[in-house]
Amino acid sequence: MNAHIVLLPGDGIGPEVIAAATQVLARVAKAFNHELSFSTQLIGGAALRAGLPPLPDETLAAVKSAHAVLLGAVGDPAFDDRPPAERPEAALLALRREMGVYANLRPARTWPGLEGSGPLRRSVLAGTDLIVVRELLGGLYYGQPRGIDESGFSAINTMRYSRPEIVRVARVAFELALERKNRVVSVDKANVLEVSRLWRTVVTEVAGDYPTVKLTHEFVDTAAMKLALAPASFDVVLTENMFGDILSDEAGAVCGSLGLLPSASLGPGPGLFEPVHGSAPDLAGRDLANPIGAIASAAMMLSDGLGLRAEGAAIISAIERVLRTGLRTADIAGADETAVGTSMFAEAVAMGTG
Ligand code: IPM
Ligand code: MN
Repeated sequence: MNAHIVLLPGDGIGPEVIAAATQVLARVAKAFNHELSFSTQLIGGAALRAGLPPLPDETLAAVKSAHAVLLGAVGDPAFDDRPPAERPEAALLALRREMGVYANLRPARTWPGLEGSGPLRRSVLAGTDLIVVRELLGGLYYGQPRGIDESGFSAINTMRYSRPEIVRVARVAFELALERKNRVVSVDKANVLEVSRLWRTVVTEVAGDYPTVKLTHEFVDTAAMKLALAPASFDVVLTENMFGDILSDEAGAVCGSLGLLPSASLGPGPGLFEPVHGSAPDLAGRDLANPIGAIASAAMMLSDGLGLRAEGAAIISAIERVLRTGLRTADIAGADETAVGTSMFAEAVAMGTG
C-alpha cells in the first residue's frame, strides 16, 4: 500500500512522541512492504509562534489530501491569557470539525507488567479493557450561542445535540461492541439535562438494531465512580463530548498513566490519530515523555485508518514485548526500576516491530 501521512507534532512533548511514533511506523512499513510517506505541518502554539494562525491554511489543505493524520499535542502556556478562539487548542477543535471526525475512540487497558503502576490495587485493575467512544463534534465544545458578555458579568456555553449526531456515534459504539464483549454503557446526565434525555432515547432506539449487544445507561457521576471502583466492568463506554473528555483522562490514570492512551478520531474522510495526553510543557524537550500513547495511536492509524490490521497488531505486540522486558519510561517506572528516555523506549519498540 502507498499512503501519505500528515504529521502534526504541535506543542510541548508532541514533537518527541511523534518522532517516536514515526520511527516505529517507518520500521513496520518496511517489514510489511508498504510505502508510507510523511509530511510535517504546523499546528497550535507552534503555528502561533511562527506568526501564523493556530490552524494555518496550508496545514488544513495538507490534512485534507492525506490518507491519515497523526497529531502530537497542542497547548502552550505562553498563550494562556488569550481567549479560547486564539489559543492553540482552538486549532484542534477546528481541525476535528474540518475533518468531520465525529467518533473519538479511546481504548484504555492494562498493559503487561503495568498492572501495579496505577493508583488501583492489582485485583481491581485486573482485566480492564474498555474503550470510550466520545462524540467529538457536538455538545458544549461547539454549541452556539457561546461567549462572555461585554461587562464580563456572565458567560454562556450551549450543550446541544441533534438526533443524527447521536445516531451516527452510537452506531460506531454498537459496531465496536460486536467485535468486543457485546456491552455498551451509555453515559449521560438524564436526571438533570434535556440533552441527555434525548441522548438516552436515541441511543436506546439505535440499540434496537443490535439485539446481541446489551445496552445499559449510567449517569456520568456514577460512571466516574465505577470507573475508579470497578474499571474491569466496562466494555464500550458511549458518551457525549465533554463527559468523554473527562472520563477518558480518568480511564488513562486508572490504567497507570495518561501517557499510555491512544486515540482514533473517525469520520467519513481521513482519520485523525493522537495520544490522549496533552502537551505536558514541564516534560517537553527532556526525553522524559512516555511515547506509548503516540505509538499506539500510530497502530490505530494503521488498523482503523488504513485497514492494515496485522501491521497495527504488530506494533501493539512490540510494545507489549518491550514492557515485558522491563523497559519503562519515568511515568510508569516503579521505585526500584530505572527509567529510560522517550527515544530509547521508541527505539526498542521499533526494533521489536520488524
Ligand atoms: C483532548 C484534549 C482536548 C479536548 C483539548 C486540548 C482541546 O483535552 O483531546 O482530550 O478537550 O478535546
Ligand atoms: Mn482531554
